[in-house]
Amino acid sequence: MIISGKAKLAGVMGWPVGHSRSPRLHGFWLEAYGIDGAYVPLAVPPERAAEAIRVLPALGFRGCNVTVPHKEIAAAAVDHLDETARRAGAVNTIVVREDGSLEGRNTDGFGFLENLKAGAPGWTATAGPAVVLGAGGAARAVVASLIDDGAPEVRLLNRTRARAEALAADIGDGVRVFDWVSRETLLADAALVVNTTTQGMHGQPPLDLSLEALAPAAVVTDIVYTPLITPLLAAAHARGNRVVDGLGMLLHQARPGFAAWFGTEPEVTEELRRFVLG
Ligand code: ATR
Repeated sequence: MIISGKAKLAGVMGWPVGHSRSPRLHGFWLEAYGIDGAYVPLAVPPERAAEAIRVLPALGFRGCNVTVPHKEIAAAAVDHLDETARRAGAVNTIVVREDGSLEGRNTDGFGFLENLKAGAPGWTATAGPAVVLGAGGAARAVVASLIDDGAPEVRLLNRTRARAEALAADIGDGVRVFDWVSRETLLADAALVVNTTTQGMHGQPPLDLSLEALAPAAVVTDIVYTPLITPLLAAAHARGNRVVDGLGMLLHQARPGFAAWFGTEPEVTEELRRFVLG
């Protein structure tokens, strides 16, 4: 697609950034909506990330996405944090305001919830306890979004319990920490099971979790999307549970940024999914 001298600019900043699917994703939408804009990869090493973020307004950028390992650096580098970014302690979306100041947001939790709602129609966070496995960077936004959306309880388990304790202390009421060894006994009355660990990713062993005790109505989701159907999702599907893959979280978290930078509310469609996977 040809861009003009007036093209609206955005991108994704990370290190490395070559594996990011965001340029394909935003590029698809720019073309689909006929927008004169560009969304480019910004490969910036950690020691230059704060500087690169500060210079976005001078370069005329409308903003950018921020990915690993820059999400916490971005939270410290911007001028304003919205509630989602403050709660997550991390920024994945930066918007340059009209006055040239930088606003940091975190749309990962939004993407997580929108993906679940689209993939498991009728599911709501209020349906019952959620079991969240893992307490790394991705878990934080997931846990906060579930609490904010009305989950009666989030049961948080991590191989390293101290990390789960720290996350629970940050998020506050509604999060209960359990020992990793008790993960299977907590499934019986769960309405949702979420894997936020790296287990099940290509090159990693499957998540070690028997679903024997899982309630038939529970929804199972994985934030890992390489492969799209992780061993966890395959096992849940085989039992008859509803499953939601992790690709949609990536697609939905991108919507607010695209709308802010390019002025159009984009849609997540099957065609988009296929294109981003391709
Ligand atoms: P990020 O912060 O980007 O999410 P991370 O900090 O490496 O990534 O987190 C990965 C998650 O996978 C953590 O919850 C990690 O558990 P620890 O905090 O105990 O490291 C989890 N994880 C990684 N390998 C695991 C394994 N073999 N069994 C269970 N959990 C594992």
